[in-house]
Amino acid sequence: MRSENDANDRPTERPNIMERRHFLKTAGVTAGLATFLGPDSFRGVEAAVSEIADLTPHAAARDETLWREVKQAFTVSRSQINLDNGYACPSPRVVTEAFVRYIWDQEQGPYGVYIDEAREQTRTVKKSLARLFGSGADEIAFVRNTTEALKTVLYGIPLNPGDEVLTTTHDYPSLVRVVRNREQKEGIKLVEVPVPFPAGSMDELVKVIENGITSKTRVILVSHITYTTGQVFPIREICELAHRHGIEVIVDGAHAVAHLDFKVSDLDCDYYGTSLHKWLSAPKGTGLLYMKREHVEKIEPLYGPTMSLRFNPLTSMQKYESVGTQPQPPFLAIGEAVAFHNAIGPKRKEERLRYLKNYWAERLREHPRIKLYTSTAPEMSCCIAGVGIEGVDPTGMRDYLWNEHHVRTSRGRYDREDTGRTWVRITPNLYTTLPELDYFCDVMEEVADNGLPEPYSEYAFDPSIMRR
Ligand SMILES: Cc1ncc(COP(=O)(O)O)c(C=O)c1O
Repeated sequence: MRSENDANDRPTERPNIMERRHFLKTAGVTAGLATFLGPDSFRGVEAAVSEIADLTPHAAARDETLWREVKQAFTVSRSQINLDNGYACPSPRVVTEAFVRYIWDQEQGPYGVYIDEAREQTRTVKKSLARLFGSGADEIAFVRNTTEALKTVLYGIPLNPGDEVLTTTHDYPSLVRVVRNREQKEGIKLVEVPVPFPAGSMDELVKVIENGITSKTRVILVSHITYTTGQVFPIREICELAHRHGIEVIVDGAHAVAHLDFKVSDLDCDYYGTSLHKWLSAPKGTGLLYMKREHVEKIEPLYGPTMSLRFNPLTSMQKYESVGTQPQPPFLAIGEAVAFHNAIGPKRKEERLRYLKNYWAERLREHPRIKLYTSTAPEMSCCIAGVGIEGVDPTGMRDYLWNEHHVRTSRGRYDREDTGRTWVRITPNLYTTLPELDYFCDVMEEVADNGLPEPYSEYAFDPSIMRR
């Protein structure tokens, strides 16, 4: 049965503060019961998909038939509202259970027997991930996260003194730090171009990158989706531009895989790194490194050269996985995460994530003191967005939301252009309910009307509070 406005999901009246506390408590109890009863997440999701299979992904995103089932597939606590999925996403039950099962397998007998078998199974998992990602299985390596994937490339790529690496002020600080490090040690040059936020169009973003290119630019490091405001970058166009100038492109895809529906082969980038514990909801500590085959020989692994009898240590992506003994269960459970993602349907998931962002963003932007730092044009953003309140310190806002309401957000911290514009970053997920988003909006509007209470109102004036 379908309904646009599911009565359980969308209350007609907004609750007051006491009612909200009751809502959180009862929501927690109900979810706990659902967890205990343990619905079969695959079967439930597949059955729900078959009910809405005739809908376009855009229409399916607004129909609660499927999402009600998807919400039940997660074991998240409803005593907190998690709008900080940009950090790492909870796994659905099917992934967690597989992960635990794989640990039991690991502990059964001699490790040498287990690991041979596990390596074989990992190859199958890699094939299913490569199919989703749009690459050959031999073009990807399993690593722990985006940091490991892209530090491998950023430290490994051969550069000469004077060569320039171009990036943006909204790229991830710990990766930009690698370039700074090489700048100090090797005399290469880091060039950071400011990103307009919200940007007006995809073309504007290509222009921003184009304006930073000089005859010395050798590499571009760019986020597929920025961690700051959730801006989606036109990667394909940037790669075309870069390749015309003989420049290689490293894409930070921490937030894009299993969030946007795309194939890496369509982007034509040279390198791509992502964290599978983000939007794919795989176990924590799983990531992917991709590079075009022609680059593998020249990029040394982060931990130096490796010796192997099993693969060619120069030209195989396996050299990036050769880091000594490490656990296989998290990597094996990627298989279940891919299967769960495919059961929902990548485009349906993308549209639902965008719908959830628009649900709160379109309401809040009506308030005269609330400002969105992210464009809601469909091609410009998906689930991640930044929002600020005039005169309200975002750290105070974040702490108020968490301490007083158990709503978890993160602060949009790195305004490296120092424009004074700051925000909280909001990232819901498939399991987020519409009443949870209503609750968040109620609190934001209350603060926009009345300001923050003490001590949160003091944050901007007392930097020691901000450091907490
Ligand atoms: C854009 C971006 N790149 C890289 C990272 C690092 O991800 P991880 O900690 O999983 O390596 C993050 C983390 O949030 C990120 O947002």
